Amino acid sequence: MEFGRIFWFWVLSVGEVQMGFSLCSYPAIFNFGDSNSDTGGMSATFLPIPPPNGESFFGRPSGRACDGRLVVDFMAEHLGLPYLSPYLDSIWPNFGHGANFATGGSTIRPQNKTLFEAGVSPFSLNVQLWQFDQFKSRTIDLYNRANPDERSYLPKLEDFSNALYTIDIGQNDLTAGFRKMSEDQVQASIPEILDQFSDAVQRLYQLGARIFWIHNTGPIGCLPMTGIYFGGSSDLLDQLGCVRSHNDMAVEFNTQLKDRVCQLRGQLNQTSLIYVDVYAAKYGLISDAVNQGFTDPLHICCGYHELVIVGCGQKINVNGTEIYGASCGNPSTYVSWDGTHYSQAANHWIANSIFNGTLSDPQIPIDEACNFM
Ligand SMILES: *[C@@H]1O[C@H](CO)[C@@H](O)[C@H](O)[C@H]1NC(C)=O
Ligand SMILES: *[C@@H]1O[C@H](CO)[C@@H](O)[C@H](O)[C@H]1NC(C)=O
Ligand SMILES: *[C@@H]1O[C@H](CO)[C@@H](O)[C@H](O)[C@H]1NC(C)=O
Ligand SMILES: *[C@@H]1O[C@H](CO)[C@@H](O)[C@H](O)[C@H]1NC(C)=O
Repeated sequence: MEFGRIFWFWVLSVGEVQMGFSLCSYPAIFNFGDSNSDTGGMSATFLPIPPPNGESFFGRPSGRACDGRLVVDFMAEHLGLPYLSPYLDSIWPNFGHGANFATGGSTIRPQNKTLFEAGVSPFSLNVQLWQFDQFKSRTIDLYNRANPDERSYLPKLEDFSNALYTIDIGQNDLTAGFRKMSEDQVQASIPEILDQFSDAVQRLYQLGARIFWIHNTGPIGCLPMTGIYFGGSSDLLDQLGCVRSHNDMAVEFNTQLKDRVCQLRGQLNQTSLIYVDVYAAKYGLISDAVNQGFTDPLHICCGYHELVIVGCGQKINVNGTEIYGASCGNPSTYVSWDGTHYSQAANHWIANSIFNGTLSDPQIPIDEACNFM
């Protein structure tokens, strides 16, 4: 018996050594992206996100466009790290275990006046990289001059190469494109958008990043808001009621994104670049919502979408009557929180389906992604 147990243990150990996989304990997460992972940057900079955002978890608006936690929050929990402070939040941030550069509305492509007017963020991916560059150099400078208490609010120099770098961006390049361009033009713009994406990853590499966890873009045709603006006739919709051409564009973007990530693996030594099929997770949830305990995935919990559209937590006056974009009261049964953003319950479901690596290329769980391949 004893021998058997030892032998079994030995086989497992040898197996792990040969595979070279060990569990990672990341000292920090640095995140780049849009509202899918903004933990308060946009809210700290422009108009604060109003209640009832945050009602399910934080009990107050937390700067997130959600009733509670985002996928990036579940990621931090899963990895035993605190929730990420937004880089743009100057009130009592804690960057001891990372920083979040994502802002709602961010695009990969650099902003200019034209795009900003279309309602996107000025903090496009290139700006997020400038911010990270400063964050790193100023942190290193300050760390050397700080006392121990002050140091606990900053990452250590060696944390930058051991940290997990997460990226979730691209959705707004496509949605902003659909507002201004023909579908052919949007499609033709994808390679240039991805040139910018590759540049950003290479720049992060030069700044010391080695472990990348890259989310692809979701089924934007299934966002209830897309349906309102682009889903006018039923022949435009797929069997789930999603706008087919918008999902097709996301799939095309993702195919090319995956190719770029493969190319980057060949260009960057000693890195781990994991491509994560968030599209499959989200589409999987939407196609099986009822079995997974949710109501119709194209219905929204928060906001008023009938004769007029009133955003979640917004108020407008129509014909002398005030209309409020209220919460449904039971967001945990909705996939969509506000028509554009997923509910906390959906984010939790999505997080659980991506962390074990089944939807990743290569198929590595998030807590083993530090092993270079
Ligand atoms: C900036 O706006 C112009 C149109 O004025 C557009 O052609 C260009 O693609 C935009 N730049 C970027 C980087 O998107
Ligand atoms: C990668 O490593 C190889 C061998 O160590 C080296 O020749 C090459 O220059 C490195 N490439 C980069 C981009 O650092
Ligand atoms: C406001 O009044 C106009 C004109 O009577 C009407 O067409 C419209 O539907 C009303 N809007 C709402 C939200 O009741
Ligand atoms: C990963 O998680 C998903 C969702 O919970 C599950 O369906 C799948 O079987 C899991 N895969 C592995 C390899 O554990």
